[in-house]
Amino acid sequence: MGKSFDIGLEQLAGTGVPEEKAPASESGRYNVGLSVEGAQPGMAVPQGQTFYLETFGCQMNDHDSEKVAGVLVARGYRQVERPEAAKVILYNTCSIREKAAQKVFSRLGELRPVASEEEISGKLGAASTGAQAGVFLPQKSAQPGMAVLHEANHPSQRKIVNAGGGKIIGVLGCVAQQEGEGIFERAPWVSLVCGSASYRKLPQLIAELEAGNRRVTGLDTDTDETFETEITRRDNPWRAYLTIIEGCDKACSYCVVPFTRGPERSRASVSILEEVRQLAEAGYSEMQLLGQTVNSYADPSARKMRFSELLTAVAEVRGIRRVRFTTSHPRDFGKDIVEAIDAHPTICDQVHLPVQSGSTAVLRAMARTYTREEYLEKIALLKGARRPISISTDVIVGFPGETEKDFEETLSLLDEVQYDNVFAFKYSPRPNTPSLKMADAIPEEEKGRRLAILMDRQREIQRVRNEKLVGETFEVLVDGKSRRENQWSGHTSSNRVMNFTSPEQELLGDYVQVKVVSAMQNSLMGEMVGRT
Ligand code: 5AD
Ligand code: SF4
Repeated sequence: MGKSFDIGLEQLAGTGVPEEKAPASESGRYNVGLSVEGAQPGMAVPQGQTFYLETFGCQMNDHDSEKVAGVLVARGYRQVERPEAAKVILYNTCSIREKAAQKVFSRLGELRPVASEEEISGKLGAASTGAQAGVFLPQKSAQPGMAVLHEANHPSQRKIVNAGGGKIIGVLGCVAQQEGEGIFERAPWVSLVCGSASYRKLPQLIAELEAGNRRVTGLDTDTDETFETEITRRDNPWRAYLTIIEGCDKACSYCVVPFTRGPERSRASVSILEEVRQLAEAGYSEMQLLGQTVNSYADPSARKMRFSELLTAVAEVRGIRRVRFTTSHPRDFGKDIVEAIDAHPTICDQVHLPVQSGSTAVLRAMARTYTREEYLEKIALLKGARRPISISTDVIVGFPGETEKDFEETLSLLDEVQYDNVFAFKYSPRPNTPSLKMADAIPEEEKGRRLAILMDRQREIQRVRNEKLVGETFEVLVDGKSRRENQWSGHTSSNRVMNFTSPEQELLGDYVQVKVVSAMQNSLMGEMVGRT
């Protein structure tokens, strides 16, 4: 599966959720785009240096990784598919739920050196290029004094020796921000720890490592700047992600994001629009505007564009055929956004509007700043749009104090709204969050039971909704070709996955008309009936 926003069965199960999907290096089908081979004039070029970058978590992280890759490529680094082949190994991490956060420590464990920590520190201290974890060998053949790359149960099946020398290992993103220098204690072979609010310092941090610094950190969150780079190494040649607002000021009581990504900072509209124009000229036809609360966008420039005005301006750029935005916060979702969608067919008929719970009491405990009724008013705005808008949401089950009655209110909300997609999660207690201290924790088993019931209910809703689409024709941006002859796949404007047949030889990147012949709960099957 590519970097799509579609939800599979396992996503409903909370195991393949957006924050916990396959690493970008495996899920990304494309490695073209605005990629830059080689270094920029006048830059220090570490000859033949390579990096491996694995991304966990949300689309914001995916896009941050594209920018981090851009920074490294501009310095002369080349991206490789396997950590064994890399001089620099970077993990861009997610800490939204405990399971996601644990993943990076298991990855770091795979890179644990066999020698004692003092031995390693001694060696590393003397190394000319900073912290280097020496020679990596499969654990079985490890020798004292060597660092080991454990055989891991990982799709890349890393087993191979990099007999050629040391590695620089870095932890980026939300776990980096949350754990800070504590990561050096848990994994002394790490040499770079940098949270997303400090990414603008990354080129400097990398230069320090190249110059021989043992350990470098970027952990400030008190910045009002956003991370802009000259070069972003985009993974998909048609859909471009653009972060328009970073951080979050909402303070939901269960959420680590305000701590890990810092306060809200919006990017100036002129700079966003300039990048959109460049991307359109480079052949990208779909823009996805990103932010934890994308619709809380507050233009810092004199132009003071509202979010809905920015959406419209992006939609009007020549060459842009689709505009998406995620994630919206219900409190800041106004009718001007629906009016913009109505006025511009280029703005996709898809809105992700996380509700979290159908119970006003739980919403209050979560500090979501709206009631069930207020949320349903926003849904009514969407349902009143001129064309059908596909609506998806996030739900947390088993929040502390959630009663059976509260949970039933969430189920009845699903019935009432009739979502096209639901990302459901078991509540996970996170460090520093106010909900950590709340009474009446729900046992894990009960959380699991509620999640299963919710998934069943939503599966049935999706099955019925998708079946109603049989016989309709949709425009599809083709982004995948199956090994099976005449089989293609793509996404509709509503972001449904469409698998379809066509005898055409080349369709990737094209917009085509596809008639639905059958429906599954998470995707549609169709046949191409024309081009657009
Ligand atoms: N436990 C479970 N789910 C969480 N989310 C955020 N924090 C937590 C947590 N502590 C979910 C919310 C959010 C999505 C990105 O992740 O549903 O919308
Ligand atoms: Fe977390 Fe709430 Fe901000 Fe979303 S709006 S990132 S759930 S604090």
